[in-house]
Amino acid sequence: MVHSKETEPEHRFYGFTRTVSASLTHLICIVFTVFITVLSRPGSSLFSWHPFLMTLAFSLFMTEAILLFSPHGSPIKSLPHKTKGRVHWILQCICVSCAVLGLAAIFYNKHLNDKPHFTSWHGFLGLITVCVVGLQSLAAVPLIFHSLAKGWSLAKLKRYHAACGLVTYLLGSVSLLLGLCSAWFAASVSGYTWYLSALCPALTALVMMNQVTTAYMAKKRFQS
Ligand code: HEM
Repeated sequence: MVHSKETEPEHRFYGFTRTVSASLTHLICIVFTVFITVLSRPGSSLFSWHPFLMTLAFSLFMTEAILLFSPHGSPIKSLPHKTKGRVHWILQCICVSCAVLGLAAIFYNKHLNDKPHFTSWHGFLGLITVCVVGLQSLAAVPLIFHSLAKGWSLAKLKRYHAACGLVTYLLGSVSLLLGLCSAWFAASVSGYTWYLSALCPALTALVMMNQVTTAYMAKKRFQS
């Protein structure tokens, strides 16, 4: 009897573990976003918008925008790649809008309270993250209007976009982690809850690294 690769037991097992890890990632980013929303109570103060909007941008929208390309965990797995690309850039536009509004909220809040800007590691790296996510989105425009990048093949553009996107995601995760180290968050939660919260951006970052490197290294092997 001839076995196709997909029906081999170990292949099905790997597929199963990948589906479980992608489903857990959906769950983690949703639970983390809900948790920060409940804790910050958006609208209760100007500051409250900052953790809420930043978590929405980097934990929910950016994670979902990348996960939708996962062959095992995409909620729109069966749709054509072109449609996934469209949903991806719509989610990324929402992500950038939330990030800019979240930055504006904390910047204006500090201005009202006469506090110095970008003095903590979180504030400094956070500013860089918002700039990088903005640049990454602008640099992605040629993927939609290919004529803007003359001399660059679409495959090469996509590879650079994925690599830079991963760096942007990691910057977002580290900024989130540093946000959890802030005096506000440390005072809002106790011991175990802090560690559990810190695990969320750390775990989703690992899953994203795995997804992107697996997809693009496999393609590179086929091409070379
Ligand atoms: C990737 C997500 C995030 C980014 C890009 C980001 C960015 C920033 C930036 C740029 C500042 C400094 C603003 C200024 O000095 O004018 C700041 C401040 C602050 N952020 Fe975030 N933030 C993020 C997530 C969070 C989260 C999740 C929390 C809370 C859990 C948080 C809590 C704070 C606090 C308390 C401050 C004021 C103290 C300080 O400047 O360190 N941030 N953030």
